[in-house]
Amino acid sequence: MAGNITFTMIKPDAVEANNIGPILAMINKAGFRILAMKYMRLTKEQAGNFYAVHKERPFYGELTEYMSAGPIVAAVLVKDNAVADYRKLIGATDPTKADEGTIRKMFAKSIAANAVHGSDSDENAEIESNFFFSHLERY
Ligand code: RTP
Ligand code: MG
Repeated sequence: MAGNITFTMIKPDAVEANNIGPILAMINKAGFRILAMKYMRLTKEQAGNFYAVHKERPFYGELTEYMSAGPIVAAVLVKDNAVADYRKLIGATDPTKADEGTIRKMFAKSIAANAVHGSDSDENAEIESNFFFSHLERY
C-alpha cells in the first residue's frame, strides 16, 4: 500500500537524554504502529550515505559528525498518510519554530540536535527504510 510507511530515527541527543521511551510513547499515541526497529550506532560514512542529499549543504559535515556521535534508534512506522502525519507530529526542523506538543518542541535541543528524523516523501520513506532494514526484519 503506497503512502502508509515512514522512516524515523531517534537521534543521538534524544537517546543521550533518555528520551527513547517518551518519544516512542508519543509515536504510538499518535496512531503509528512499529513495523521494524533497531538500536545502533552509525559510522560517519554511513551517516554520510544516509544524508547524501545534503552533501553540498554547509551543515553536512556537522550533520554527519553529530549523527555518528552516539547510538540512534531507527524505525519504520505504519499509518495511513504516514509521511505527512509524522512530519506534523515531529514539528519544524528548527525547534524554536516547532508547534506546541510536537516531538521537536518537547525534546529537541537545537536545529542540529533536533531529536528525530522523519522522511519527507513516500519515495524517501522507501529508500530510507531499505537503507536500515531487510524485508525479513519487518513485522
Ligand atoms: P530530518 O531530515 O532529519 O528529518 O530533518 P528535516 O527534514 O526537518 O530537515 P532537513 O532540511 O532534511 O535537514 C536534515 C538535518 O540536518 C540538520 N540541519 N542542520 N545547522 C543547520 O542549519 C542545519 N540545518 C539542518 C538537522 O539535524 C536536520 O534535521
Ligand atoms: Mg529531511
